[in-house]
Amino acid sequence: MSGTVHLERDGDVAVLIIDNPPVNAGSSDVRKALLRRIAEVEADATLAGAVLIGAGKSFIAGSDLREFDLPLEPPQLPQVIEAIEGSSKPYVAALHGAALGGGYELALGCDARIAAPETVVGLPECTLGIIPGAGGTQKLPRLVGKAKAISLICTGGRVSSPEALRLGMIDAVAETDLREEAVALARSLKGRKQRVIELPVPKDKPEDIEAATSKAVAAARNRPHIQAAIRHVMAAGTVGACEGLAAERAEFQQLRVAPEAKALRHIFFAEREATRGNLPAGVKGRRFESFGIVGAGTMGADIATATLQRGFPTVLVDSNSEALARAKARITAAIERGVTSGKLSVDAGDRAKCNLVLVSELQSLEDCDVLIEAVFEDLETKRGVFAKLDAIAKPGALLATNTSYLDIDRIAAATTRPQDVIGLHFFSPAHIMKLLEVIAGAESSHEAVTTGLAIAKALGKQPVQASNGFGFIGNRIYAAYRAACEFMLEDGALPHEVDEALKDFGFAMGPFAVADMSGLDIAWRMRQQQAATRDPAARYVAIPDRLCEMGRLGRKTGAGYYDYDEKGRPQRSAVVEDVISMASDAKGIARRSLDAREIQRRAMAAIVNEAGLVLEEEIAARASDIDVVLVNGYGFPRWLGGPLYWAAQQDLEELASDCAASTAAAGPSKRRADLDALLGSESRNRTA
Ligand code: NAI
Repeated sequence: MSGTVHLERDGDVAVLIIDNPPVNAGSSDVRKALLRRIAEVEADATLAGAVLIGAGKSFIAGSDLREFDLPLEPPQLPQVIEAIEGSSKPYVAALHGAALGGGYELALGCDARIAAPETVVGLPECTLGIIPGAGGTQKLPRLVGKAKAISLICTGGRVSSPEALRLGMIDAVAETDLREEAVALARSLKGRKQRVIELPVPKDKPEDIEAATSKAVAAARNRPHIQAAIRHVMAAGTVGACEGLAAERAEFQQLRVAPEAKALRHIFFAEREATRGNLPAGVKGRRFESFGIVGAGTMGADIATATLQRGFPTVLVDSNSEALARAKARITAAIERGVTSGKLSVDAGDRAKCNLVLVSELQSLEDCDVLIEAVFEDLETKRGVFAKLDAIAKPGALLATNTSYLDIDRIAAATTRPQDVIGLHFFSPAHIMKLLEVIAGAESSHEAVTTGLAIAKALGKQPVQASNGFGFIGNRIYAAYRAACEFMLEDGALPHEVDEALKDFGFAMGPFAVADMSGLDIAWRMRQQQAATRDPAARYVAIPDRLCEMGRLGRKTGAGYYDYDEKGRPQRSAVVEDVISMASDAKGIARRSLDAREIQRRAMAAIVNEAGLVLEEEIAARASDIDVVLVNGYGFPRWLGGPLYWAAQQDLEELASDCAASTAAAGPSKRRADLDALLGSESRNRTA
């Protein structure tokens, strides 16, 4: 049995306590119990009203998503809400913790809503490829107007109590005791019903609605459920209440079982699982209260912003005083942007600035609990820094490197405490990107890795545990993908054709636009470092080297794979197209045109094959971890569930032949992953 509802009496008010640990998910048992209790309240003449409240740490934090793949068991949520709205007695929702999705819709079915100060409310359904299905799209606009409802529903935003009160999403914030104040509120409503569904929809300015709509559509890449959500909000008040509710429910039911929603549920559960890492049960992490960061370049400064924004005192060290000055300006600006956008309170912003210490000497790191190295990507430089940190850091301090590709074990071997060394691979910009690869070296202790996962949580990041290996999970797979795209340039495609095809597939950006944005010189430097050890049998595309030699390093030099006009818009470049066609000629390749489908298939085959190798080599512990990495760090379309979830939905024979072609195109030394082992079972599990 998953959940129940207790009834306690407070004079003439029934307190219905929803009890389904840990977060009171709205399971079918909870719905059944609620319906029984509502009937009990209705039948009891000594009761004048009721309060709905959650046991434990939350109101209903959301529906039980595990039920969403199956036909939903009766009673469904709208039936429970109808019983509340149909009751002759007033109901008050007393909210604490989280009242999200179905939880907030239940509250919208009540006659008033009161919340504890730290509560968050909202309708996050759109983040899961569905729309609110129990009245959210019809009732929220009646409280906040259509423009605000569109933006809240389409972004799935969580709204804190004070803001929710300001917007009208709740009626009161409890001052001292939520339950007592809710009971008093119910008593004050005695004999009255004030159903949200009967309120008029306030008139918004058309331009506000239009602005909210275009923003929502652009932010969510115009996915079908976003269009649906907007349509239903717009219908609120223009069609009858019953019609509006029925249409919303019907659309919710359709979207719930559509491939996109299934993929989004997959990635939701995959993220939760990744958060736990891959460690024996019961390992405890270390306490950490302060950070030290070595290297105040792009990454060091942004990592410092991330730790400071979360309230951690942070010491930032760089041997170059100009780098320190630049970092200070960058961090201050980022914090101020956080305050202006409302992400940080003014107090938190001030505290963050005060918590920053900039120094040029490593010695100042002796008291820090966590040390993160972000100096140049050069093994000997990093080993030098770690040898010094070993001499300075207090016993038990966690030593982490932000290396993109280098061998964690060789870095750890520069210390006398490799058990305390892990990789914490942040993504740029580090205070914004969600993904954090937590890399366990051969000698990293479970305790150190657990601490790495806890750091991710404390910084609001999505961790994925990885083992040590060139490029770990993400950069390794991305390198194979980028190489496949470069092969396509030699074979006959042009950068804009590849980029457009992959954007059409759903990637946030095409690979060549990404290269221009991050700068071609980083990969160039790496290729130079690897030149001596490169496998001569591997196919090597020299096009990016030629571009770098011409000073075309990407957006920062005004030219890369594209030319950039004065407004920064990319334009096709005749120079680049000449370089590409000369590269094809030099290898005797007869150029031919590649259509979008071929480009997409070749790119995906490269990703899937490399992902298979990453799993075989146990760099990633789970296929779903790879999905989480690509979705959160590399712009892979979330609504396709990640590359391996996507792969499991494909025709296996066709995919296998694409992978065979992809490895053949990469040269004789490229290994093929065992797709049967990878996807045979994966696809059976996933499509079951
Ligand atoms: P950067 O070149 O912007 O900054 C490196 C900083 O380290 C410079 O300010 C330099 O003065 C300082 N430094 C070098 N040696 C030092 C030493 N011995 N002691 C103190 N300071 C020292 O480099 P960036 O881009 O910030 O990268 C840093 C690390 O992060 C690299 O390992 C890189 O691979 C990794 N990384 C970079 C990403 C990116 O997108 N830029 C993404 C993820 C990881």
